[in-house]
Amino acid sequence: MQQVEICFSPELIHLHELRGKIVVVVDIFRATSTMVAALANGITEIKTCSDLEECRSMASQDYLIAGERNGIKAEGFQLGNSPLAYLAGEYQDQKLAMTTTNGTLAISKSIGADEILIGAFPNLQATVSYIQSRQKDVLIHCAGWKGRFNLEDSLYAGALVKALEATHEAEDDGAIAMKSLYEKEGHDLKGFLSQASHAKRLQNHNIDSDIDFCLTLDLFSLVGKVENDSLIALYPN
Ligand code: MLT
Repeated sequence: MQQVEICFSPELIHLHELRGKIVVVVDIFRATSTMVAALANGITEIKTCSDLEECRSMASQDYLIAGERNGIKAEGFQLGNSPLAYLAGEYQDQKLAMTTTNGTLAISKSIGADEILIGAFPNLQATVSYIQSRQKDVLIHCAGWKGRFNLEDSLYAGALVKALEATHEAEDDGAIAMKSLYEKEGHDLKGFLSQASHAKRLQNHNIDSDIDFCLTLDLFSLVGKVENDSLIALYPN
């Protein structure tokens, strides 16, 4: 039986062993949900950048640039961090460079893992099936909010622990706790997560239309995986 554990913030990642594991980075509101939406609608690869200027400079290499800080689109960027921006398929066969407040930082701090995947509710089952085909231990890395625990990433982690229970044991206290929370609250994701601090932040910025998308299960069969420094879509059969 493989093992599954949860890291609740990039500030705690040094306490976890990454080698030999699949790390699933999760930022439900909204970075990893947006990455899945972009890859499912024609974006061929995503370069994730921790820094605004690094991301801005990618425009000179024909990358679309998307950036957000504190939920707001970064100045001078073509795109912010809304998953809805990609659903019309406007960016077919284009490359994207992306920087966000927490999600892209969590990806950069997952280097050293055997494999890095991105997790989101719209591709939960695809991620589960892929992980179960790899027979490796799993570390779920929550992006959180500026180093702190957040509810939405942790609840997703509970959903993934629950979905993996046939193949992965939850010995880690965090995994046990979040699996129980998901078993209790998973039937009403939107209702429960309406009290999440970042959901309120997005509402304050009138961008809560993204929340419904971010909480929709299994819209896509793709797996988001980092390969050669870029995030790409895999379609395991
Ligand atoms: C983040 O990286 O913190 C989030 O994705 C922020 C957001 O999109 O609102």
